[in-house]
Amino acid sequence: MKSFSFLSFLALSGLASAGVTVYHQAQATLVPSTGAHNSTKLTPPPLPNPMPATNYNIQLQTGMPGASIAIPSAFLGFSIEMSVANQVLGHNSSLIQVPFLNLIQNIVQRSGGIFIRVGGNTQDFATLVPDLGNGKILEKDKSKMTGNNPTQTPPLLLGHDLLVLMRTISSFTNVHWYLGIPWIDQQYRLDIVKKGEEILGPFLEGLQASNEPDFYVAHSHRPEGYGPADYIKELQQLVTLMDADSAYSVAKTQLVVPSIANSNGWTFQQLYELGLLDTYAANIKYVAAERYPSDNCAAVWSTDGTVRQPQEMFPVYLTHESPKNLAGQYAADTAFAHSKSKPFYMFETNTASCGGFPGVSDSFGAALWGLDYALHLAYTNFSGAMFHVGGQSVYYNPFTAPPTNETAFHKWTVGPMYYDALIMAEILGKSNTSQVLDLNANNGAPTTPAYAIFENGGQPSKLALFNYMDDASGAAALTVNFGISGNEQPSSMKAKTFRSGSVSDKANFTWAGQTFGEAYSSDGRPTGEETIQDINCNGNTCSVQVPSPGFVLVFLNPDTAKQPPAQTYTTTALTKTQNTATVDPGVLATSNGHQDVSSKKYSTSIGSAQNNGTKTGLSLLIVALNITLGVLVALRRP
Ligand SMILES: *[C@@H]1O[C@H](CO)[C@@H](O)[C@H](O)[C@H]1NC(C)=O
Ligand SMILES: *[C@@H]1O[C@H](CO)[C@@H](O)[C@H](O)[C@H]1NC(C)=O
Ligand SMILES: *[C@@H]1O[C@H](CO)[C@@H](O)[C@H](O)[C@H]1NC(C)=O
Ligand SMILES: *[C@@H]1O[C@H](CO)[C@@H](O)[C@H](O)[C@H]1NC(C)=O
Repeated sequence: MKSFSFLSFLALSGLASAGVTVYHQAQATLVPSTGAHNSTKLTPPPLPNPMPATNYNIQLQTGMPGASIAIPSAFLGFSIEMSVANQVLGHNSSLIQVPFLNLIQNIVQRSGGIFIRVGGNTQDFATLVPDLGNGKILEKDKSKMTGNNPTQTPPLLLGHDLLVLMRTISSFTNVHWYLGIPWIDQQYRLDIVKKGEEILGPFLEGLQASNEPDFYVAHSHRPEGYGPADYIKELQQLVTLMDADSAYSVAKTQLVVPSIANSNGWTFQQLYELGLLDTYAANIKYVAAERYPSDNCAAVWSTDGTVRQPQEMFPVYLTHESPKNLAGQYAADTAFAHSKSKPFYMFETNTASCGGFPGVSDSFGAALWGLDYALHLAYTNFSGAMFHVGGQSVYYNPFTAPPTNETAFHKWTVGPMYYDALIMAEILGKSNTSQVLDLNANNGAPTTPAYAIFENGGQPSKLALFNYMDDASGAAALTVNFGISGNEQPSSMKAKTFRSGSVSDKANFTWAGQTFGEAYSSDGRPTGEETIQDINCNGNTCSVQVPSPGFVLVFLNPDTAKQPPAQTYTTTALTKTQNTATVDPGVLATSNGHQDVSSKKYSTSIGSAQNNGTKTGLSLLIVALNITLGVLVALRRP
């Protein structure tokens, strides 16, 4: 991997998981053709031989057996590597990334809310300090980069203002956050918990108690022989510490455990048998796994192990087998957690660890895979999943801010996993009652999976139809015929299509006609007119086409298809010193809506989505900001 040669100084062993990011940006040669902006374009695999049927039927009914539990609307979220939080969220609490706000708001508009985790491998070495000076919220402490840290991750210093930034974001759009408890030593550096509770308040959703402990031996963070029983002892130590201080009375009920990657022989079964969910029933809020289907570690870190060729990996992602096998192996684990009344999450995932594969992780094919995977996780009774976000050097980012020195002429890059989060929000809707069923459609053909969604007590509400086949001639396009038994079927339905010319395309995908464009071109708002197709029904049968490649979401109740316009933000602020367009809540809050806020440094002019004719945006935002500032002032009072 030529583009990663600068990382060879990090030659490591045993780094098999880890949604890793480049830690030494100063030493890295970030050029636009690497990582999130690489130009690798792969060859789509040939059509299957024999071909599956290109015309098949689906019959739906109320309350179909095998459907999932009710899935929360805020299902797909993001896991942001702690060490890049300042690139993604904002420079500090007064300079929030406007494209980030917009991207999140698009999803929240559809789902009502979203979960975002700030953590990852770097959380285990983080230390919270009151103030880092110079308006900074995050610093890598390279002086401490020795000892038992084989990934050479410099310990992270976090300022309180990172938490204030997160809290401020939650005032703009409904984000609830997860933080990680640093696990490197058994003092647990609980400041992050205390301050997290104090500053984030009700927006702190949970606290991860360890991150992939099954890799701690491989990463030399624990001695050889450290196993599930040792992890439980450490958890006990944490709970004992929290029990001793009333400041943790909420936090000690919000733990997320054990976040294993099913590696090195560790399983959920072992931890369950050790009584994890019984002994700590009062402490555990969520049970979580972290998992990637593959890894690109050998290429990125020059470690031993298989160097996987992206072209050879590409077909692996273009079939239902991958999501089905990956999610499916957790069926017993999610069932046991539910028997103890605990929701089960996929806390960190993406196409492949160590940054993903160029040409695969950033392709339209990966977008189809990610959506199939998300639906299969829901079908397997996961209650949520978070796609990982790394720095500029990785291939799998849902979204990537431009490098700091290029913000004057570059905007954000929106990747396949972001489209998936947006579409999944629409698939599940806002009701929290959606149930997902893998229909094993078309005789289980792996290139044409389909799911049914049921809402409000098992009423069929949507159909999610995939076609992984890449065929520009259209001969591999699907015709799916469907009907609903026992119900009076609407005479017309609506559909939205997710498409691109080829599975190997890397930009300009369209969801219902709208796109986030090319690399470096997005301010976080979709462009183009939303197009919703009419589906005609003949008697009790309706038909819809699924392009090759593509995905179609059928709205069985046509009234649910149209999205209300999102309140989004525009900005005129582009500076070279700050990381791209940012909003200064202070400037907005004092503008009273009369001043020309766009003339101020870092200022933002507030707009609404292009299809929003109302002018209420500014005043609403200012109300929100006043509330925000009130909260902040209150929080800062000693
Ligand atoms: C930004 O910085 C990177 C890394 O130093 C460099 O490779 C790139 O050329 C710079 N871009 C510009 C426009 O100067
Ligand atoms: C954020 O950073 C800017 C620029 O460094 C600085 O002017 C501002 O005071 C900082 N805000 C906070 C809350 O630290
Ligand atoms: C999900 O949970 C439901 C309800 O308990 C159950 O019927 C179904 O079999 C589970 N699905 C899977 C794939 O395990
Ligand atoms: C869905 O669940 C979320 C989280 O519990 C909650 O905030 C929201 O109000 C619920 N929505 C509905 C429609 O009940």
